Formats: sequence, C-alpha cells, structure tokens
Amino acid sequence: MSPETLAAQALGAADPLTGGLAPVISPATNYEQQPDGSNRQDRAYTRADNPTYEYAENLLAALEGAGCACAVFASGMAAATAVFQSLLPGDHVLVSRVLYWGVRKWLAEFALTWGLDVEFADTTDLAALAAAIRPGQTRLLWLETPANPMWEITDLAAACELAHSAGVRVAVDNTVATPVLTRPFEHGADLVVHSATKYLNGHSDVLAGAVLTARRDPFWERIRSWRRNAGAVLGPFEAWLLQRGMRTLFLRVHRASESALAIATHLHGHPALSAVLYPGLPSHPGHQIAARQMTGGFGGMLSIRLAGGPGQAMAVLEAVRVFKRATSLGGVESLIEHRRSMEGPSSPVPDDLLRLSVGIEAAGDLVADLDAALAAARRTGACAPPAPAAGPGAAP
Ligand SMILES: Cc1ncc(COP(=O)(O)O)c(C=O)c1O
Repeated sequence: MSPETLAAQALGAADPLTGGLAPVISPATNYEQQPDGSNRQDRAYTRADNPTYEYAENLLAALEGAGCACAVFASGMAAATAVFQSLLPGDHVLVSRVLYWGVRKWLAEFALTWGLDVEFADTTDLAALAAAIRPGQTRLLWLETPANPMWEITDLAAACELAHSAGVRVAVDNTVATPVLTRPFEHGADLVVHSATKYLNGHSDVLAGAVLTARRDPFWERIRSWRRNAGAVLGPFEAWLLQRGMRTLFLRVHRASESALAIATHLHGHPALSAVLYPGLPSHPGHQIAARQMTGGFGGMLSIRLAGGPGQAMAVLEAVRVFKRATSLGGVESLIEHRRSMEGPSSPVPDDLLRLSVGIEAAGDLVADLDAALAAARRTGACAPPAPAAGPGAAP
C-alpha cells in the first residue's frame, strides 16, 4: 500500500474490541499484576511505554520506511536531547551550522557539562564536512535539511557516505521535510528525529517528538532507556491526537508545499525584498540537491529578507491580516514571525528576515496578504525598531 493510504487509515488502527475505526486511548499509568507477579503484555508502568503510543509510532515508522523502530517523546526537544544524551562524555559531535535554534541553544548550554565536544560545521560543503570529521572520535553527525531558518540544503546521501566511511552515526532532523518529502533512511541516515509538534500533528495543539532508528542496536536501546528512565514521555491523549493528525499529513504537506512554491515564485524579484529563501526556487543554492532529494515538493517553509532592513520587516509583520503573527511551524494556519526577535540577542539570524510557515488556506489569500503588507510597509516607509528580543525563551 502507498504511504498515503497507510496514513489515511492509520495502518488500520481500529479498536479490536468494538470495531470502532478510531483507536482507543489508554490513560492507565499502571497495570495490574497477575497472581504470579507477571504483567499482561509485559506492561507495568506507563513511563516505560503506553499502548496509545503505538498507533503513532507504528505509523511514523511505516512512513519513514526501512523497517525502523520509533519512540515518541514529550516534545521535539526531548527527542533531540535523548539522542545527544545517549552519547558518552568525550564524544565529538558535528552539527549543521544552520539549524533549529533550540537545539543549538541546548548544545551551547548543556552539551559541555554533559562532556560532549560539539563542533558546528557547514554541512552543505562536503569538503568542509570531510575535514571536520575526526575518525575514531566523531560519534554523531547531526543534520537538519531544509535547515531553519535559511532553508539550507544538505546532501543527505553524500553526507551519510562521508560519515559512514569514518564510522560516524548520522541523525537527521526531518521535522521540516517530513517523510512525505524526504525519507532520510533511504539516503543512509541511522536516526531520524522529529518535532511532531509541527507537520506530523499539524494542528498547533500537541507538543510531541519522535526518534526513529534504522536498526535496533545498543545505541537505540540507550535512547529508549533514556525515555523510560528520564521520563520524557508523551501523554496518551497527546499520542492519540498525534495519530489523528498524521492521517491528513500527506494532504497538508502537499498543499503547504504547493502554496509555498507559489508564494516564493510570486515574491521572487519583488522590489521590497533582497532575498526569498526557498529551496524550490532555482536560484536557491541548494535547489538541485533538493530537487533530487525531496519528492513531491520543497516544503511549506520559506523566509523573506526585506531590502529596507529590520524596520520594514516589522512593518510587514504589523500589516499582515491572513498570516498569523506567531512562532512555530507546520500547522494548518499560516504563520509569520521575526525570527531574530524570537531567538533573542545571541541569534545569528539576520534582523531583516521574516520566517513564513505556509498553511492550507487558499494560496491566493496568502499571496494577496503578503502583497498588501509589503505595499503598506513601503507606503509608510516604516522604520520602527525591531520588537525587543524575547529573551532566553523557547522559540520553536
Ligand atoms: C526543526 C525543529 N526541530 C526541533 C524542534 C523542537 O521541537 P519542540 O518544540 O516540539 O520541542 C523544532 C521546534 O520548532 C524544530 O523546528
């Protein structure tokens, strides 16, 4: 069966007792022991596992392919940090230079105390990546593609080949592409990580994460053990909502990708903009790799840079009517944000950049909204200073 069918039917996750086409939620935290001390299905306490997880885990594993296993987590950050915290003190870790800010911030604040030797590398430059790998010391290469918020593209197959030739494990944050557009295991990845808060759930109402593995090896067991023992577990209600959200994943991601491409194409060359950053545009430096690596679209995320600087960016933000001014991404509603303000003073993001998460509204409404906001910003010639930095928050 095609992945679209598997997703729509949630692998046929019906309730075996009643035949209900929606699976049931298991809220139990603990399970009754048999007189002999054993537990049915080996379940004792829900910090280890919960039957409701399995609907989302099995479906995501099927969509990511390669017979992998999946574990859901309390958030994308809980999933990402479970991978890093399963490494050992002294391990050298290479991380994409451009990546989701929360992961970079966590690495900067906590990886050192964990004893990890973290190095940021330009993973779009294979020669630079090859030079940065330290055979025998580098234990993990962490990639994000397309990468927040410049949407840089890393060649997954080439990066995995380089890493594997030096015995380095590769983890790919596939939050933005989703398995609809990219299946990192097919390009050689060993681990795939998601913020399921974004496209997988897709309705801006669940915080969740996931880690998937190409093989059940001791490192995978450490990640599972981390979830169980550190307790970064998802609630069963959230797990249920996640499996429901994933049923429409293909429709939503395809629609968002089509609209994002239409918006990027429309805005490309706009006199108010100095750049439109979207891997679907032939002018994007990673376009050719993206065209090879991504199937069925280039995703729903793009960024625009205002020729008039940060004041103009804030004026556009003020003027939008259809786009919602909010952080995060991957929901059904379109979002716009001044990324640097969200990330705070240490952000490397240019202050003239607005990040757009394209939802499933009519593309014409979104294009008209941006056109009108750009025109209004130019008319006012607005030069308001950027909003004060959100501080050391939790910008998603
Ligand atoms: C690419 C990416 N990875 C990980 C995360 C962290 O996910 P969460 O907010 O679910 O903890 C985010 C959140 O924005 C993200 O965009």
